[in-house]
Amino acid sequence: MCGIVGYTGKNQAAPILLDGLSKLEYRGYDSAGMAVFDGKTLRSEKTPGRLNALVEMTHDGKLLPGTLGIGHTRWATHGKPTRANAHPHFNAAGTVAVVHNGIIENYLDIRQRMEKKGFAFKSDTDTETLAVMLDYYYTGDPVETIIKVLHRVTGSYALGIIFADHPGELYAARKDSPLIVGKGKDGNYIASDVPAILKYTRDVYYIENEEIAKITEKDIVFFNIDAEEIKPELHTVEWDVNAADKGGYEFYMMKEMSEQPKVLRNTCEPRMKKGSIAFEELSKDADIIKKASKIHIVACGSAYHAGMTGKYVIEGMARIPVEVELASEFRYRDPVYTDDEIVIAVSQSGETADTLAAVKEAKAHGVPVWAIVNATGSSMTREADRTLYTFAGPEISVATTKAYSAQIAVFYMLAILFAKERGQLDANEEKSYVEDLKRLPEQVELLLGNKERVQKFANRYISARDVYYIGRGLDYAIALEASLKLKEISYVHAEAYAAGELKHGTISLIEKNTLVTAIVTQEALYDKTISNIVEVKSRGAFVMAVTNVGHSEIEENADFVVYIPTTNKYFANSLAIIPLQLFAYYVSAGKGYDVDHPRNLAKSVTVE
Ligand code: AGP
Repeated sequence: MCGIVGYTGKNQAAPILLDGLSKLEYRGYDSAGMAVFDGKTLRSEKTPGRLNALVEMTHDGKLLPGTLGIGHTRWATHGKPTRANAHPHFNAAGTVAVVHNGIIENYLDIRQRMEKKGFAFKSDTDTETLAVMLDYYYTGDPVETIIKVLHRVTGSYALGIIFADHPGELYAARKDSPLIVGKGKDGNYIASDVPAILKYTRDVYYIENEEIAKITEKDIVFFNIDAEEIKPELHTVEWDVNAADKGGYEFYMMKEMSEQPKVLRNTCEPRMKKGSIAFEELSKDADIIKKASKIHIVACGSAYHAGMTGKYVIEGMARIPVEVELASEFRYRDPVYTDDEIVIAVSQSGETADTLAAVKEAKAHGVPVWAIVNATGSSMTREADRTLYTFAGPEISVATTKAYSAQIAVFYMLAILFAKERGQLDANEEKSYVEDLKRLPEQVELLLGNKERVQKFANRYISARDVYYIGRGLDYAIALEASLKLKEISYVHAEAYAAGELKHGTISLIEKNTLVTAIVTQEALYDKTISNIVEVKSRGAFVMAVTNVGHSEIEENADFVVYIPTTNKYFANSLAIIPLQLFAYYVSAGKGYDVDHPRNLAKSVTVE
């Protein structure tokens, strides 16, 4: 996902842009660039590859003097990661500079129309059409011009714009792609995400859809798409500045895995009062909870896997039917709703395009939408009827760990709440669940302390080609998440399989030394999964097992076993995932990969 940083004020802009972009590297990108205006000349540099190349090309920004600037890290959508396609993009005269996150869906029509009017294009990007149109429709009034152009585009955008005949003025606009405006003491900022400007200010405005901002060193003025001035609310970001740096770890992923005990406490404690579960956010929804006939959980990637955990736990405790769906499927399949259904969207970033679209689809049908989100103030928190935050703090590594763990903990508490409100759970049972929840952080801490043993085992699988993860019920939900972790950061092919399904075809792929990881935490299914371990062993597989302490007999069949402490069966996912996150991390790190920035991936996929 692209990163945008902009600044106008009394300081040199380039160093601020480079610093801000470095805080957005986690979003995934393949080129970088910036434009800086000194009041007379609008200069720019851009390059494919990493941000460091831009730092070197501009001598830490010294070659681009000026106190007004925009910077960008691009994750290629239209056109390869080349210098020509890198942002910023300009009009022919080089007097208008634009950086953009999102997709202009009608860019080809615009391009053809502008070419017919004699405009030439230097790139393959959709963004350049914006620079050309800003030139063509320019009236001398930037806000008026921007509105004219935005009326002619369809798609999503977060924009930073500079007009050379308006020194000191930075313009921003947004639709469906996140953008914030930071109010600082030495000037004002724009950014795609909070970490980019947290060092300079905690006071931010969240630009809403189809709003434009005119920003100078001293003022920030907002307009709606009808050119009417509006007064949005100023928010104060509570994040800890250090939370957005590595804190001595080699990769953010290890730091964030290590934060999971704290994150579980931060997420659960506000909802646990005197042995009982309560969501302040749902205090007006007792009726909806009591009457709920079905729950749809919609999400992507790991958030979808968290939803799978949610399904088993909510159905198990509260006996409500739960359907978990990929948001990219849900949004287009014209779902059939009956009365009293609820949609729960899950998203770390709160900006995932498919999940946002699924939320809008459900809302268009009048279905109550709750969102389990980590990023404060993100788009999804403004679209959903209720937001249940995960309090994991900023998650920088592309591979989610702490936010995922917090998501499944929210599902545990939702399941308890639903079961209680619907008479499926008495006060003693609730109290016992809450006690088990309180023990999770220290149990996670214990498993994290096991990392060297997992690392030694992972080192044997640096060159693995195929890995299979098998489990039943809640163990299958973890198999899904564990396989994605390995794939996305180590590029090893991994597949999750319902253990009972393997023999219906895929077992043909198991051969000598194929690594099969069996997750066996559900006591009622233990013997069934053991028989699946025997099946794959007889075909030569090497078996890693994750099971409950006390099942040492599993070592007759499994070659490497990680035991998890005893917890309630519903909460075992929080423990079983720890060694499997560590395994993926150590395989990737062992291969010398940049664990936090896996190839082809972005931290939040804000495009379809
Ligand atoms: C998980 O490690 C991946 N980064 C990815 O699958 C992610 O979970 C997915 O893109 C959803 O992101 P979201 O939670 O921000 O919506």
